[in-house]
Amino acid sequence: MTTKIILDTDPGIDDAMAILFAEANPDVELVALTTVYGNAEINTSTRNALYLKQRFNFACDVAKGASGPLVRDPVGASVVVHGENGFGDVPLEEPSIEADPRSAHQYIIDTVKASPGEITLVAVGPLTNLALAIEHAPEIASLVKEVVIMGGAFGTHEHTGNVTPFAEANIHDDPHAADIVLTANWPVTVVGLDVTHEAFFSSQYLDTVRDTCGDIGQFMWDISRFYLAFYKERMGVEGCFVHDPSAIAYVINPALFEVRKGPIRVVCDGPAEGMTLQKYRETKHKTDEWKDKPAQNVAIAVNDRALLDLFLDSMTHYASEQ
Ligand code: BDR
Ligand code: CA
Repeated sequence: MTTKIILDTDPGIDDAMAILFAEANPDVELVALTTVYGNAEINTSTRNALYLKQRFNFACDVAKGASGPLVRDPVGASVVVHGENGFGDVPLEEPSIEADPRSAHQYIIDTVKASPGEITLVAVGPLTNLALAIEHAPEIASLVKEVVIMGGAFGTHEHTGNVTPFAEANIHDDPHAADIVLTANWPVTVVGLDVTHEAFFSSQYLDTVRDTCGDIGQFMWDISRFYLAFYKERMGVEGCFVHDPSAIAYVINPALFEVRKGPIRVVCDGPAEGMTLQKYRETKHKTDEWKDKPAQNVAIAVNDRALLDLFLDSMTHYASEQ
């Protein structure tokens, strides 16, 4: 069955991989890209979403979202990871198409209300747009099919953080928004570093993507040069972890992941700001900030080989039909 998704994104190199994966896989209907600051500032991430839509002829809408976090001071764009232009500084033509006139959060509200029970929200950037949507229209909680988030780190396999020792980038960018989204009464699955650091696109794998996946494969290879240079310099590896595409893989085939249930809270200030904590044991405490919050899913294991096969198969099949 096809899953309709709104992909909330800060493109971003791995965001582009996730977007193209979603467009390529026939089990996903990409209804819209809603944009957010994060890897790049909002005008750049929106330009990049429009660029992808125009260059690869997507049918989806694009709606521009938040330019900064709800409460905390902005962290700033991840230029060292994604380049000045968010796409590894590969030269891009300016798109000639425009975004939907609505803000991203209004677009989300309207679209969810128009198709009750049908829309899965997939967020692979800071969670500001989703928090604004649920704050402005709490009734959408019961109308959304599911919420899938790439973000957070819960310590499985010792994966605790990437931008700080204890925080993952998307959550660290707006911890207050993340706490709102993760404690709202809608079904959330978090695909965080616990699993995204357990799947790896090697340099050779990306060469295969370039050689077998037509224009989209070449584009992914081109923009990922900058990303791979960052990984090599920072971690000494030849390739990159599979962050945002893992959220799309979950939508297509949740059986690739093992999940754990329990309410989640986010540390909103201090040295551990952006840290995500799930209470997954039934312990009783005099003070318990998790009590009465909905149990959500946290992905704690992934079949990484099957995930890599799914990604490559989706891309090669799509390319063969162009
Ligand atoms: C997340 O942060 C961003 O840099 C990536 O696009 C991904 O969404 C990984 O921590
Ligand atoms: Ca992202």
